[in-house]
This record gives sequence, structure tokens and C-alpha cells, in this order.
Amino acid sequence: MTDILPEDDLHAIASRAKAKTDISHIHAFLGASTSEKWLEVAKNNLPLLMQDHANCEKKAAGTAMNLIFRYEFHRDLQEKLAQLVREEMLHYEQVLELMKERGIAWSHLPAGRYAKGLLKHKRTWEPAGMIDMLIIGAFIEARSCERFSALADVIDDEKLSKYYKYLLKSESRHYEDYLALAQSVSDESIDERVAFFRAVEAELIDSPDSELRFHSGVPDFV
Ligand SMILES: [Fe+2]
Ligand SMILES: [Fe+2]
Repeated sequence: MTDILPEDDLHAIASRAKAKTDISHIHAFLGASTSEKWLEVAKNNLPLLMQDHANCEKKAAGTAMNLIFRYEFHRDLQEKLAQLVREEMLHYEQVLELMKERGIAWSHLPAGRYAKGLLKHKRTWEPAGMIDMLIIGAFIEARSCERFSALADVIDDEKLSKYYKYLLKSESRHYEDYLALAQSVSDESIDERVAFFRAVEAELIDSPDSELRFHSGVPDFV
């Protein structure tokens, strides 16, 4: 099998990423920060979190692929999302490899409430539906970035911590691409819609949640 995550490369990439990846704009964009409680529970349940992370990467690629088919008239979207699909599938392979290294067997894990909680507010007519999907994509990518950064600082698994830092650069670009694409299909400013989804997303992150997932709320079960 091809080595998808060569140790030396990862080390070099992670140190560069650490020096270069400033995610203060992500913190400014999001309406809430990850709670200490989520971080505490997450770092003690890394196998479950890695399984959910693998699911998220695959879903991110699948969603982007659907957008590529649905909005074939938008040339810039085709190019940006084709790159995104490639990167998410690489991440998927990398997470699978990290799970294998740690002896974590694949398990079926149903999705949490997060994506559904955002998608239920998507408008059904166009181009409003397209704008909403792209804004939701931006929030999911921004939150992933914020959580990778927070997790990297607290977990005891050094290689995984480096890997999370390595992901910051691409995930923060995915957030920027989605947001720019959303603005590109709207004649008016999308600020109001972004503010709406900011509040919805912050509520999903800040309210009690009975399940642990990569994008879950504050755990209420411990
Ligand atoms: Fe990813
Ligand atoms: Fe991404």
C-alpha cells in the first residue's frame, strides 16, 4: 500500500503549518468557540472521534461532488470544488490509515445533529438554495478548522496532533472558497444570511448534546 502519510513529510509539513497557519479569521467568523467540556470528552474518546472524522471527510467530498453536478454552469465552482473533492478524499485515506495504525476497526456511526441542524434552514428556491448550501459549507469547514486546532493542543497522540495541524491550511482555504462562491452567486451582500447561519451554528455548538461527534455540542452525558 502506498504510504499516504510519510512520517518525515508530516513532521516537516506540520512545523511549516504551525509557523504559517493563522486561523484568527476563523475564530472571528464563528459565533462560538469549542467548549472545554467538549474538548475533555473528545480527547478521551479519540477512536470514536476518528471514526466520525473519517465519515466527515467522505461526506465533505460527496456533498461537493453533488454541487459540481447540480451547478454545472458555474465554472469557478467546478474548479474550486474539484480540488476540494480531491483533498477531502486524500484526508479520508489518511484518517483511515491513522485508524489502522491505532488498531481502530471501522464501525458504523450514525451522523449527529449538526449538518441536519444547519440544512433544515436551507431555502428551497434558487439561487437562494445554492447560496445557503455554500454558506453552510463555509461554516462546516470553518468549524472543522477551529476544532482541529483546539484538539491538536490537548490530545496526547503526537502524530495525530501534527496531522490536525497539517489539516488547518486546506480546511481554512475550503472555508474561504465556499464563502467566496456564495458571494459570487448573489447580487446582494450575503452578510445577513451569513449572520443567520452564524447564530444557528453557534447554538448547535454551544447547547447540550447527548452524543459525541466531531461537530457536536456540549456533552451532557458525563
Ligand atoms: Fe478535509
Ligand atoms: Fe474541508
